[in-house]
Formats: sequence, C-alpha cells, structure tokens
Amino acid sequence: MTVYYKGFPQSTREEKLKMTNLLELPEKVKKIMPEGAYYYIASGAENEWTWRNNTQAFNHFQIVPRALTNMQDPQLDTTFMGMNLKTPVMICPIACHGIANAEAEIDTAKGAKAAGALFGMSTYCNKSVQDVQKAVGKSHRFMQLYLSKDWDFNKMVIEESEKAGFEGFYLTVDALVSGYREANIRTNFTYPVPLAFFQEWTGGKGEGQSVAQMYANSAQKIGPDDVRKIKELTDLPLIVKGVKCAEDAYKALGAGADGIEVSNHGGREVDGGPATIDVLPGIAREVRHAGRKVPIIFDGGVRRGSHVFKALALGADLVGIGRPFLYGLALGGAQGVQSVIEQLNKELLIDMQLTGCKTIEDVKHAKIDHFTYSADWGISSTSKSVMPPYPVTEDNQLKGEAADAVSGASEH
Ligand SMILES: Cc1cc2nc3c(=O)[nH]c(=O)nc-3n(C[C@H](O)[C@H](O)[C@H](O)COP(=O)(O)O)c2cc1C
Repeated sequence: MTVYYKGFPQSTREEKLKMTNLLELPEKVKKIMPEGAYYYIASGAENEWTWRNNTQAFNHFQIVPRALTNMQDPQLDTTFMGMNLKTPVMICPIACHGIANAEAEIDTAKGAKAAGALFGMSTYCNKSVQDVQKAVGKSHRFMQLYLSKDWDFNKMVIEESEKAGFEGFYLTVDALVSGYREANIRTNFTYPVPLAFFQEWTGGKGEGQSVAQMYANSAQKIGPDDVRKIKELTDLPLIVKGVKCAEDAYKALGAGADGIEVSNHGGREVDGGPATIDVLPGIAREVRHAGRKVPIIFDGGVRRGSHVFKALALGADLVGIGRPFLYGLALGGAQGVQSVIEQLNKELLIDMQLTGCKTIEDVKHAKIDHFTYSADWGISSTSKSVMPPYPVTEDNQLKGEAADAVSGASEH
C-alpha cells in the first residue's frame, strides 16, 4: 500500500473509489499523506479567499431546469481541437504527482485515458514523457510549459513532448512567482520526489527545493514574444493558461495562441482576485464577438457535475479539474483518477437529463439564471484553526531519511 522514497511515503493503491461526491476525498487523503504534502495540494494563497470563492461563486449562477423536453439518454462525447473525447472534463496540469502515488503521472495518464479525458501534464512532472508514452501508448495529452530563463531547456521540453506523442501545449502565464502559500511555509514543504525534466537537464534539481525556489528559477518576465517564440518551435496547438480578463485573452490570441484557459491557478497565486467562474462569461463574450471561434478551457473550484454544466453553459469548451483528481490518484491510482472523472460525469448526466440537453453542444446553449442569494460562508479546511490536529497513522509517517525530505528552505 505504501512505498518510501528517501523516507517519503508514496501510495501504491490501485482501486475504484466508493464515494457519494468529490467533497469526501480530502479527509480520506489526509489519513495517508504527510502533512506538508497534503497542504501543498489542498491550500491556496494568503487568506484563501479566492480559493474558497472559486467553488462558492458557482452559486452566482443557476441552471434553469427545463420541462417537456422529450429527451432521454444524454451523451457526454465532445470534440476539442480535433480530438474526440468521451467527456468535457479535463485533467489540469499539476506538479509532482509522485506526492500522491508512486506511479505518479503514468497512473494519471492511464486514468484519463480510461475515462476518455484530455490529460494535461506539468513541466514539474516526476515521470518522464517517454515513461508516460511507453506505459500509456496513444492517448490525448497536452504538455504544460513553465518557461525557464534557459530557452535550450524550453526547446528540449517542447521537442521531447512532441516526440512522446503529446498533441498540444499550455503556456502557464499566471505563476511567475509563487503565491504566498502559508501552509507551505508552516510545514517547510519541499518537493520530495525528483522532477524528470530537471533530472535530465541539470542532474537532479527539483527534489528538495521549495515551491518558491522552483518558481524563482523559472522565467518571471513573460510576454507576447514568448508566445510567438513557442509557436515558432512547434506546429502543435498552444493554449495560454491563466487568463482572467478579455484584454489578456486578446494579447495571447494576438501573439498566436490557439486558445485560452481561464484559470487563477486554483487560488494559489493572487488572493483577492475574482473566482474564475465570475470572469468566464465576460471573457467568452468578448473573444467570441462577431462569431469568432476561440477554444476556451475553464478551471477553478470544480467539484460537482453542476459546476461542469455551468462552466460549459457560460462559455467553456472543456472544464479542468485539479486537486480532486490528485486525491483520486492518492486513494486509488489510475482507477482513482478514473473514478473522480466518472463521478463528475454521473452528476453532469443527471443535470443534462433534467435540462433537456442531449449533447455537450446543447449544454453550451443551456439557459442560466443569475439571481443573488445570501452567501453561504464556510471556513477554509486549510486555515490555521482547522489544520491541527493532524491525523497520525502508520501510512503517513516519514521513514528513514525523512528529516532530509522536510528540511528545505522556507518560502521567503
Ligand atoms: C498541487 C497543485 C499543483 C499545481 N501545479 C501546476 C503546474 O505545475 N502547472 C500549472 O499550470 N498549474 C498548476 N496548478 C494549477 C492547476 O492546473 C489548476 O489551474 C487548478 O488546480 C484548478 O483548480 P482546482 O484545484 O480547484 O480544480 C497546480 C494546482 C495544484 C493544486
């Protein structure tokens, strides 16, 4: 059930998950994951206001149930940038899947493939693109780019990914430095498992570094010329990830991006910024004026099929999930990832039936209302007052060289 990398416990679970909804998963993961690793995933920046509101702001929009629709058996298949997918749910790029499972990105890619979903893989991955290709074969996957100051490194990531069957790229533009993530500071979090691209390029960098150190080593100065430069290096589609206003969407598209991802990095960067679902409709309306077709991915706070429904109806073509699939990976490996996507699919299908939407294209044209209700506040599960006591189990204790793995620099 658990193996150890230099004292860091990695789950080896491979099983379908039994759950009633995705909100149950974090508590289960807490019991099997070291504190620093759990809060690296679960937490957001500063007061976690944006992190919280990403999910709560879905309540600003209401799905209008439809009657007498004479429809049954809704279908989830959809196409995106030439790919045939079995679900509009997408796996967002997330660093260091080895925190959740020893098979890391290999299992995530397998789970996404089994569910027919697009898999986004981070530059900060533990398994190499070649390992993923060997284990998974042909599947729909995009590589995410955290630009390095070293363009030879960027070129290497693009070329290796292309050779390994990746079908497109995301350029992440909203994480030039790390957001002020207090949970990481409190737990002295450092990446516990080697990062494949850095191992190949710099002989082992990545492991033992704090999040702030990793970002400090990447490029802080990113502009439209970088988008153009990437487009010169590859013919594959490029999505600019981390757009929160129409002006920036235009900048990205003007520089040659093929699509945008409306994202605030899961509330991990600027705390106090708007929830992504609140900015999605305006961005979609602006960039698609005069019938222009611009592919839009959305992510941030999606925990329910109804959230997927609302995002599609408000302008998204695909809807990304971050933390929930990582929890699935920790609890059930590839099958856990698949279970998480299937849970969202199950809930989405119910909403589709009850709104008369036979296809995902119908959902994109579904009726949404916008009434204001009094806010339902919930305290953040990662706030200081809720963090302790942390459950101590056999599975979440460091073994052997544990001290090395947690002794890294702080975020300052
Ligand atoms: C632990 C963690 C690591 C992340 N790493 C990356 C990354 O390497 N690259 C990236 O573009 N986004 C990264 N993100 C942001 C996700 O791609 C996505 O935007 C976000 O998780 C969506 O919000 P959600 O977790 O509420 O679903 C990360 C998010 C988390 C939670």
